Amino acid sequence: MAKQDDLFKNVVSHAKEYGYIFPSSEIYDGLSAVYDYAQNGVELKKNIREYWWKSMVQMHENIVGIDAAIFMHPTTWKASGHVDAFNDPLIDNKDSKKRYRADVLVEEFREKINEKIQKDVDKAQAKFGEAFDEKQFRETNPNVVRRQQQIDEITVELTRVQEENDLEGFRQLIIDLGIVCPVSGTANWTEVRQFNLMFGTKLGASADSAMDLYLRPETAQGIFVNFLNVQKTGRMKIPFGIAQTGKAFRNEIVARQFIFRMREFEQMEMQFFVKPGEEMKWYEYWKETRLKWHLSLGLGRKNYRFHDHDKLAHYANAAADIEFDFPFGFKELEGIHSRTDFDLSSHEKYSGKKLQYFDTETNTSYVPYVVETSVGLDRMFLAVFSKSLQEETLEDGSTRTVLRLPSVLAPTKAAVLPLIKRDGLPEVAKQIVEDLKWDFNVAYDEKDAVGRRYRRQDALGTPFCITVDHQTLEDQTVTIRHRDTMEQQRVAIADLRNLINEDVSMRNWLMKMK
Ligand code: GAP
Repeated sequence: MAKQDDLFKNVVSHAKEYGYIFPSSEIYDGLSAVYDYAQNGVELKKNIREYWWKSMVQMHENIVGIDAAIFMHPTTWKASGHVDAFNDPLIDNKDSKKRYRADVLVEEFREKINEKIQKDVDKAQAKFGEAFDEKQFRETNPNVVRRQQQIDEITVELTRVQEENDLEGFRQLIIDLGIVCPVSGTANWTEVRQFNLMFGTKLGASADSAMDLYLRPETAQGIFVNFLNVQKTGRMKIPFGIAQTGKAFRNEIVARQFIFRMREFEQMEMQFFVKPGEEMKWYEYWKETRLKWHLSLGLGRKNYRFHDHDKLAHYANAAADIEFDFPFGFKELEGIHSRTDFDLSSHEKYSGKKLQYFDTETNTSYVPYVVETSVGLDRMFLAVFSKSLQEETLEDGSTRTVLRLPSVLAPTKAAVLPLIKRDGLPEVAKQIVEDLKWDFNVAYDEKDAVGRRYRRQDALGTPFCITVDHQTLEDQTVTIRHRDTMEQQRVAIADLRNLINEDVSMRNWLMKMK
C-alpha cells in the first residue's frame, strides 16, 4: 500500500512540476477536487479527445458529433431521473467527522478480499508454472473458495440494500463487515443518508423571476433531446450514433484521488440508437470496440478488465465498466450501458413531443433503444499519465524519470536542441523548428548541457530529441534520439518530417484497432 501511495504522490507532483496539472486557484489555497490543466496538460488532454473523436466520428460513417449547451431546460433532469435518483449514499464517522460513500466503503472492503485471492492465485501460479490450472485452483482451494463465497454474499446484500434503498440495512452491512473509519479506526457510524449530486444555479436577472437550473451532471441528455433534430437533418438511418465531448458537473462529496473524481470534469460520450431487440448485439459490439480503442494505446492488456454491474441504474438492462489499474488499484475508467428506450420515452412523456424513428423498411415507428459508451476524459488522462510515468535504473547505475506517453498523445512531439549556443547551431535548430511546426508541436531548447536537456524532455514525455551539432553544418544531418530506448540515429534534416510522422500519426495508432 505504501508503495502505491508513493507512486500516486509521484504522479501528482510530477504533473505539477512538469506543467501538466495545477490545483485550481492555487494562490487561494486551491478548491477541493477542482483542477486546472497547464500548458502541457492541455495538449495531452486535447490529443486524447481528438483520438477518441477520430475513432468514433471520423471512423464511423453512421456516427456524427454535436456540442450541446451545458445549461438545459430543468425538466430535462426530471425526465432523466436525475432529480429523483441521482444520489450517493453517505455515512459519517462520529469520531473523525469524516464523510464516506457507503457503497464505496463496502466495495473497497470487497476488493481487499479479492486482492487476497489474487495473491494466492499468483503464488500458486509461480509455484506450479505451466501446469497451473487457475480455474481448478479457484474452485478447489479452501481459502479461495471461502473468500469468494464472502465476496458473493457481500455482493448480494449490497445489491439488495441499494435496490431497495434500505438505508438502515446499508449501515448494518457496514457494521456487520467490521468496516472501520481509516482515520479514527472506529466503527462509530451515523445513519446512511442520500445526497443529490447535481449543482443548482439560477438563470435570469431578478430574484423572483429567475429560473432554477442544474449544471448538467452528464453530457448524454444533450444528445437525447437532440435525437430527432440530428436524425432528421442528418437523414440518419438506424443504427446510428451521436457523439459529444464536454463538461459535466457533480457535487461529489467524497472527492479524492486527484483528477479521478472531480466536481467539474469532462466526458466523452456516444449514444448509439438501435432497433428494439438488437441492443444486446450492439452492447457486446461496443464493449469489444471500446476495449480495442484503449488497447491500441499500448499501455498493456493486464491493466484493463471488465466489471459487469450487479446493480443496474434505473435506465439500464445491462451495464459494464472497463476498469483500469490506477495507482490506487482497479477502478472504473469507462462505462458501457444498454439504456433501453428509457431516456427517449421519458422525454416524450415530459415534453409531449414524439421522439420516434420511422422505419421505411417496415413502415412502422418506434422509440429506439440506446447503447451508450461513456468515458471520462480526465480519467483517461490519469490512466495514460500514471501508467507512463516510470523510474528507470540505467546500465551505469544512474536513474532516469521517463514519461513514456504513447507518442500519438504526447504534448510535444520533438525538441530541437543545438549542441552549444554558438557557431551558428542555434540558427539551424530554429530553422528546423520553423519547418516542423507546420505538422507537429515542437519545442526549442538551448539551456543547460545536452544530457540534462535530454532528461528534461524524457520527464516531459517528448518522444524525440533532435540535436544539431557541427557536423550538421557540413552535411545537413542531425542526431535523433528516441525517448524510450535512448538510441540515437544520424538522419538527414530532410527526412525528419517523415520519420516523426511515421511514429506519431493518429492513422498508424488507430490502425491498431483493426
Ligand atoms: N452518461 C452516463 C454516465 O454519466 P457515469 O458512469 O456516471 O455514466 C461516465 O460516468 C464516466 O464519466 C465514468 O466512467 C468516468 O470515467 C467519468 N466520471 C464520472 N464521474 C466523474 C468524476 N466525478 N470525475 C471524473 N470523471 C468522472
